[in-house]
Order: sequence, then C-alpha cells, then structure tokens
Amino acid sequence: MVKAALLGAAGGIGQPLALLLKQNHLITDLALFDVVPLVKGVAADVGHVDSPAVTTGYTKEDDGLKHALTGAEIVIIPAGVPRKPGMTRDDLFNINAGIVRDLIQGVAEHCPKAFVCIISNPVNSTVPIAAEVLKQAGVFDPKRVFGVTTLDVVRSSTMSAQAIGKPTSAPEYTIPVIGGHSGKTIVPLLSQSKPSLPESLFKDEEKLAALIKRIQFGGDEVVEAKGGAGSATLSMAYAGYKFASDLLSAAFDNKSGVVAPSYVYVKDSSDLQKEIGQEIDFFSVPVELGPSGVEKLHPLGKLSSHEQNLLKDCLGELGGSITKGVQFIQPKL
Ligand code: LMR
Repeated sequence: MVKAALLGAAGGIGQPLALLLKQNHLITDLALFDVVPLVKGVAADVGHVDSPAVTTGYTKEDDGLKHALTGAEIVIIPAGVPRKPGMTRDDLFNINAGIVRDLIQGVAEHCPKAFVCIISNPVNSTVPIAAEVLKQAGVFDPKRVFGVTTLDVVRSSTMSAQAIGKPTSAPEYTIPVIGGHSGKTIVPLLSQSKPSLPESLFKDEEKLAALIKRIQFGGDEVVEAKGGAGSATLSMAYAGYKFASDLLSAAFDNKSGVVAPSYVYVKDSSDLQKEIGQEIDFFSVPVELGPSGVEKLHPLGKLSSHEQNLLKDCLGELGGSITKGVQFIQPKL
C-alpha cells in the first residue's frame, strides 16, 4: 500500500517512467503531476494497465501539487528542461533549479517524510537545492533524499560489455560508479567490476581511456543523436525505475541486502570523507537501502592509481556544483 508521486509526469522521462511505476505491485496509488495539461491524458492512458495502482493526473490547477503529494511515501522528480547539443547539464541550472526548489517546497509542506528521488539535472546541484529547502522547512532527513545516478551504472555495464565484445546481457557487469552525475564527476570503478573485466582491457591504456570517457559522457551521445530534440528519456526512465523499485522493495517489502548507487548527503560519514580524501557534502556511492532509506554507505574500496586521478578531477568540479546549489537557496552564504 504505497502512494507514489511522479512530478514532471508528462515529459520525455515522465511518461515511460509512469508506465514502469504503474507495473510495480507495491504501488497502490500513482499520482502524476505536471504543469502541462497532457498529464491528465497520460494518467488516463497509463491507468488502463491492469495492475493495482489507481492512477490520477494533476496539474497546478485546483491545488494539484498538494493533492498529488499528500500521503505520498515516495516522490520521483524528472521535471525540468533537457539539454540541447553543445550544452552541459550545468547549463540547465537557471531553469531547473527553480523548478526543483518549488516542487520540494511542496514536498516539505505535504509529505515531509517521503523518500525523494531526484532525476532533474544538474543532479550535482539540484540535490543540494532539495536538501537546503527541506532544511529550511526543518524536515531534512539525509536518509531520504536521493540523486538518481543509476544510469551511470547501467551505462558502465552496457558499455564495458560492448568494449570487450560481449553481448550486453551476459554476464551483467556490476560496476560501482562514484562521484556525481556529470562528465568528469562520474567515476566508474572498472577495477571493481563483478565479474572482473579482462586484464587485457587494463593493459590497453587507449581502450581503457576511451571506455571511461564514453561512460562519463554517455549522456552527450544521446543528446547528439537526438539532434536537438532532447536527452536520454527511455534509458533514464529505465534507470529511474530501477532505483525506485530497489528503494520500494527495501523500504516497503522487507527485502534485505539491497544495494543501489545514489548521490546522497555524506557530510556526516567521517569514514567515507577519509576515503575520499577531502570534505564533501554530497557524493554518489553504493548505498544499502532499508526501511528508513539509507541504511549504510558502502566504502569506496581500493582504487587503482588511474581511478585515484579520476577522483581528483571529479572533486575539482563537484564541490563547486554543490556550493552553487546551496547558494541558490541561501544567497548570503
Ligand atoms: C543522462 O545522463 O543521459 C541525463 O543526465 C541527461 C543528460 O542531460 O545527459
């Protein structure tokens, strides 16, 4: 008996994600919100799928956000504008920061205890924005706010298999990805792949560098291919659902040992800060999920010297993106 709210449900990610969420048997109430009136049609359409969730569409009119959020236990946010070729995720900040702020104010007011999963870019900044808004409202729980970085893990698995000439599905490579969700802040730990990737890949420096770059800039590949019509929507919906369904099983279905990557508040984790080597407030790591959300942050483990350099590059950029998000809510800092 879980109510899920999807904010930005009529968009390119929102529509396929609504369809995937409708198929989750733990969700009994699926509230779809968007500023675009099409959301009512999306709700009517998805509502015909023969699964338990009662599906309702809400716009801003008639207090739609309030109705969508009241009673929600999980809120998933893909709302916002996508990139065009030549843009970075940070170029979306001016528009998407305000959208996320306003939606999170709704969360703070109507469902302060909900799990919040943020997909809207730039995730490296929108998650700190969400945290600040929730802090100001006195309802921030660091265990319940997640930046969705699952697509980086999905891409690592697919692209690594492709790089070594294997079919993408067999075997599935599980590769931790740490840092953030943008270019150089995405740090795939290929040396920790399970099953291991072949030694020959690590010996071929050019091939290894090309694979890492492809994972880090995988989003650009889709943006270019769509030629101005947006960024990844289908693979992002898949990844967003993968994370949400892991969280739902761990939080509401007593599933134990669920580990999923996520960009979360790590300021209070001194062990992790030590491993990272500098203070940072938000960072993506494999997270053990449970009834209260984040149960445990997994350690980074042993990084190769190449991965240590990637981590340095990541930290050079990530701190600034976090500060930018915080200062958007607290301009005087
Ligand atoms: C992605 O990784 O594909 C998304 O974050 C969308 C984007 O702008 O690249």
